[in-house]
Amino acid sequence: MCGITAYTGKGRALPFLIQGLEKLEYRGYDSAGITLVSNGELVTVKTKGALAALKEKLAQYDLDQHAGIGHTRWATHGVPSNLNSHPHTNLSNTISIVHNGIIENYQSIKEGLGMQGYTLASQTDSEVIVHLLDYYYEGDMKAVLRKVMSYLEGSYALCVVSVDEPDTIYAAKKESPMILGMDDTASFCASDIPALISYTKDMITLEDGQMAVLKPGHVSVYDGQGREVEPKFIHIPYDLEAAQKNGYDTFMEKEMHEQPYVIRETLRGRVEDRIIMPELDGIDLHAFDHVYFLACGTAYHAALYAQYLGREWMDIPITCVPASEFRYGNYPVNDRTFCVFVSQSGETADTLAALKMCLKAGAATLTLTNVLDSSLARLADITLYTCAGPEIAVASTKAYTTQLVMLAAMMVKLAYNSGYEVKDLDQFIADLKEIPNAVEAMLDRKNTMAEYARLLADQRDAYFIGRQLDYVNVLEGALKLKEISYVHADAYYAGELKHGPIALIEEGTVVIALATQKEVAAKTISNIEETIARGAEVILIKAPGIHSDKIERQIDLVPVHPYLTGILVAVLLQLFAFYTAKEKGCNVDQPRNLAKSVTVE
Ligand code: AGP
Ligand code: GLU
Repeated sequence: MCGITAYTGKGRALPFLIQGLEKLEYRGYDSAGITLVSNGELVTVKTKGALAALKEKLAQYDLDQHAGIGHTRWATHGVPSNLNSHPHTNLSNTISIVHNGIIENYQSIKEGLGMQGYTLASQTDSEVIVHLLDYYYEGDMKAVLRKVMSYLEGSYALCVVSVDEPDTIYAAKKESPMILGMDDTASFCASDIPALISYTKDMITLEDGQMAVLKPGHVSVYDGQGREVEPKFIHIPYDLEAAQKNGYDTFMEKEMHEQPYVIRETLRGRVEDRIIMPELDGIDLHAFDHVYFLACGTAYHAALYAQYLGREWMDIPITCVPASEFRYGNYPVNDRTFCVFVSQSGETADTLAALKMCLKAGAATLTLTNVLDSSLARLADITLYTCAGPEIAVASTKAYTTQLVMLAAMMVKLAYNSGYEVKDLDQFIADLKEIPNAVEAMLDRKNTMAEYARLLADQRDAYFIGRQLDYVNVLEGALKLKEISYVHADAYYAGELKHGPIALIEEGTVVIALATQKEVAAKTISNIEETIARGAEVILIKAPGIHSDKIERQIDLVPVHPYLTGILVAVLLQLFAFYTAKEKGCNVDQPRNLAKSVTVE
């Protein structure tokens, strides 16, 4: 997830490139750079850090070229550094590229390039692209780019410039966004609409496998076979502010809708017909007396999910504890302990303190985070990254569901490494791969969730109930609701209701019940009926095939392996919390008293 801009026209390229990168700032970045083209020369300026650092550096130059490319990086391969920043150029400094995405087969390409005498300057996956272009280039960039595209596996949005054609930008796309536009004197492109909207409201969306050639005031689009095709135009009816949220009113809504894409990115290259996690090769949990999962808030709920899978699949003591508690409790940790830390930001103070404590005690440590080179990532022995991209809304949505899919894959891998057989493994993996589509189907139920959310219009309380794995899901559902709508929400094991909380159920009380685990569903349905008998208004989220005629409001998940239902439930409950908050007029993105990254203990 990063930002790309490119311009060719009669005007100066730099102002366009920079304004575009500013508009894409919300995508987050750790470094930025540009290449400008003029009379036989490429000028590249790039630096680690925020866009401000690049602007400062650019102030030393007088750059009035009419074509160029720009990039803000959100590193996936290689730490944020000057060298790893984009653009990347070939050795003779005649071709320059910017890339957004992940080149999955970059290692094998790198080896092949090595045999031809190429050495790479950076640790990025992206750099192989420019050397491949260099290797095959014989004067026809369009043909070479098509050839190179056929070698690249993974995802890319790509812009290329070369000294041979100083007024031409080549763009290509596969699974990363690329939007193009033009006016009478210029053509431009970028990763997202906000970068273009001050210049045009009629834009071209490049499709997967397509390539575009941009000349001043003219754009041609080609398909995978190199045939010119009719560009696909869209009209953007909204203004800049809405564009930064992709047309959504709030970041939370935008981030919820990004889930199919970012889950797919997180699974990419990791979940094939088996789990590919070289970071975990050789880790047999039998080498440890105890495994801990430590995290806070929503990340703690993701950790609870991993604990559940671990206990189902393995015969090894696994304990999940909130990091804020772990530090002060008497939990034995030594060099025969394996500790896993889950954190979107990688900076949460409680989680960081717990990691430092475990490192001091000699434990083996693993961090699962969304932020490259964050404090937790730097300190742990092993780090796994989710690909949620920057999450701006305080309420975690896409970071959570990407953690769930990554943890699902990780627990399969650890069970396999430790010699355990996972029941229905093939089905589990097949369904995990299908999760992006299933999440899409859940997002399509938003009108139903909006309608159900109206039940809370005049309520101060809500109760979430579920058994077994569904208990993890009710915890997260209740947290989300409290956090953004300020409705008091409690989560209970469905079977515990009768031991106290049922005293609170009265006429009109809203109960959100989950029944996605077949073995215990009938018991949960009985518990639901006990609340209905006391006047509760129930919303039931269930797996297909589980029946209860007496419940008026029911919503079915699409069929998935029972251990993956939580990902789908999470999406529905995010929508439920979101619409409740909207209904109550709350600030969805910045709820009171909360901060995105809690760096105090
Ligand atoms: C999630 O909606 C919350 N805002 C919060 O619970 C968050 O998950 C928690 O503070 C942990 O943050 P982290 O994942 O960045 O460590
Ligand atoms: N994979 C590339 C890198 O790590 C591009 C990342 C991005 O999309 O910003 O440099």
